Amino acid sequence: MTALLEAVGITKVYDGMAALTDVSIEVDTAELVALIGPNGAGKTTLFDCLSGVQRADAGIVRLEGREIEGLAPHERARMGIARTFQRIELFTGMTVRDHLLVADRAVRRSGGLLRDLTGRAKPDAGERERCDEVLELVGLADDADRPAHALSLGRGRVVELARALMCRPRLLFLDEPSSGLDRTETAEMAGVLERVMEQGATAILLCEHDVPFVERLASRTYVLDCGRRIAAGPTRDVLADPDVRAAYLGQGV
Ligand SMILES: Nc1ncnc2c1ncn2[C@@H]1O[C@H](COP(=O)(O)OP(=O)(O)O)[C@@H](O)[C@H]1O
Ligand SMILES: [Mg+2]
Repeated sequence: MTALLEAVGITKVYDGMAALTDVSIEVDTAELVALIGPNGAGKTTLFDCLSGVQRADAGIVRLEGREIEGLAPHERARMGIARTFQRIELFTGMTVRDHLLVADRAVRRSGGLLRDLTGRAKPDAGERERCDEVLELVGLADDADRPAHALSLGRGRVVELARALMCRPRLLFLDEPSSGLDRTETAEMAGVLERVMEQGATAILLCEHDVPFVERLASRTYVLDCGRRIAAGPTRDVLADPDVRAAYLGQGV
């Protein structure tokens, strides 16, 4: 069977330094796979290459068997690839619902983005319905009309996730969704991701440093260290691997 995402031999060099060397990964339909590794291992760089923000120096990326490495991020987005970023980026003064509406219109290319941002375009029934569905799924319905920047960091990260879900991605890259969250917020995020997975429509590649979070959610895990893939397999086996534990020495695995 063709994998949803297949990346083969990805290599990326920055200023003569290899951030990724010959990294291969696969993600199947509606599967949640984790990508872990110490700081600087190349996780975000791999996301950048897979989502088209960066062009890999070597390697092949296929979505359902079709090569996509020449495509720009917005073209990949239209094919069903979405991502969130490690650093949270919400617009001051905009409500939670408006964040989702802008994402919906950006991907469907209806209306001017500026008009949307200044709130002059009223959402139609279809747009409201799509928003409400996602808000309900991620547990943000009660916060829909609040300014996003007034929410806690944990809720803010859920807004980012909801925004990415508005384009109904088949494949979603999440870059450290638990970063900066406390235990309660992290558990809440894990619960939201479980609900997204239960829907069976979205595969997730999850980049994370929180190991219990990965154990709870990911069936399979890839490990990067110094830009190389050092382990891959069922999450439990990978986390017990001596090489993985050595790469994480002092990082609490
Ligand atoms: N845009 C960039 N320009 C130059 N070097 C970069 C850039 N992005 C990442 N790097 C370098 O690539 C390596 C991997 O970084 P990154 O992918 O951010 O790792 P991780 O997300 O695993 O912490 C690091 O050495 C980092 O300094
Ligand atoms: Mg990173």
